[in-house]
Amino acid sequence: MRTRHDVAGLTSGDATTAETGDWHPVLDTYARGVALMRQLAADDPGSWIWAANTHQFPMGTQHRPGWGQCEHGALLFLPWHRAYLAWFESTVRRLTGDDTWALPYWDYSNSDNPSARHLPVEFTVQKRMVAGESVENPLFSAVRDSRPLMTQNVDIVAALSEPLFVRTFPKAGFGGTDRPGRYFGKVEDKPHNFVHGDIGGDMSLTTMAARDPIFWLHHANIDRLWEVWRGLPGSTALTDGGPGFSLLVSHWRSATFSFGDLRAPTTYTMAEVEDLSSPSMQYQYESLELPAAIDDEVAAARGALVGPGGGGFGLDEFEPSWEPVAATFNLESGEDRDLTFSVAPHGLEAIEPSGLILELAGVRAVRPHAVYVVEIRSSPEAEPHVCGRFSTFGLEGTPEREERNYLVDATSVLPDLLEEGWTGGRLSVRVVPEPGRPDSEDSERGIHVRQVTVYAQTP
Ligand code: C2O
Repeated sequence: MRTRHDVAGLTSGDATTAETGDWHPVLDTYARGVALMRQLAADDPGSWIWAANTHQFPMGTQHRPGWGQCEHGALLFLPWHRAYLAWFESTVRRLTGDDTWALPYWDYSNSDNPSARHLPVEFTVQKRMVAGESVENPLFSAVRDSRPLMTQNVDIVAALSEPLFVRTFPKAGFGGTDRPGRYFGKVEDKPHNFVHGDIGGDMSLTTMAARDPIFWLHHANIDRLWEVWRGLPGSTALTDGGPGFSLLVSHWRSATFSFGDLRAPTTYTMAEVEDLSSPSMQYQYESLELPAAIDDEVAAARGALVGPGGGGFGLDEFEPSWEPVAATFNLESGEDRDLTFSVAPHGLEAIEPSGLILELAGVRAVRPHAVYVVEIRSSPEAEPHVCGRFSTFGLEGTPEREERNYLVDATSVLPDLLEEGWTGGRLSVRVVPEPGRPDSEDSERGIHVRQVTVYAQTP
């Protein structure tokens, strides 16, 4: 059994020391492994480019079997990336000869650690010392955003408070929805997508992300959060769900993941992936504990759902019906205008909604802003209510035909809308770039939303 360590305990924490001193052996092996992988030609399955292109590759790259297989906006997001990391680790071990090595993880959400949101210094210095000589640091990237990750983007309370792995559309569980198509599960949305966008550079594109050495520490942490989630009382895996999910369950159970030269691949079955003690995984995390403040918040949020009796959840237990009450318009985010549309013939009086979800479907972009804010108003003259925000990681650089969908839970602003006399007859929706980010003012950027549908929860 190997241990994946928190990088916070491995970093020297000081840039000068990182440039001139010895590194912790785990980071040293990682740097050596990255350098050795980079020395191999792209058509070698042990190479850095092969590893990165297995995730996704830039347009115009000649495709090879086994490349471009990343799972995003899908229930297989977590297991696919877990298998991918295990295969990557085995490459680093083989090339460095360090058989005990395991990836460190970057716990950027650790509210007890003041520097948690900063890149570990070993990734930020251009040079390091190897055998008394100053050499290029393989973990350095010149194209990242150097600012710390934003506090709200590393929030894990929303994801961990969610007890169900999958929820019935239009709600999202920890891992996704029951609807095929690109819908994000809670942990994939945040922190995963937002962290990619905050790091910027290669990390902001699925086609380039795995070329940044920090990618692997980010995903080790996402993988750890899956384990944290599994250990929380009440968490219900897809495979523990009700009969309504049997197709998804059989799809899940039969999934296998293959890497390397596909004539002689390294293959992981779902059963292996789901069990960290299986012979092909053999790792544990240094810690699955949450900072006390986060633990309390998660417990409180879950307690509100479980009720006094405690106990597990059935997958359908919190899924009363959601009626689409409005649909269909095209929205260009670059355009500075509100879109008002009419909704269900009877308005909302007849429904008395207890929840409200907006689905932004068929989202495409050539060069999107990193983060968008969704605002709604009960009438064009009314005050806007911010009902959600989403990260566009994965939109840019993917083929034109590839669309993604975002679910925005607007339930928290429903009381305000109703107080303003909103009857569901019309709703103004705006999708605007989040202010205060490096690209906020760049008018060349924008996204296209094919269809907005509003779902009202009927009791
Ligand atoms: Cu497959 Cu974080 O990306």
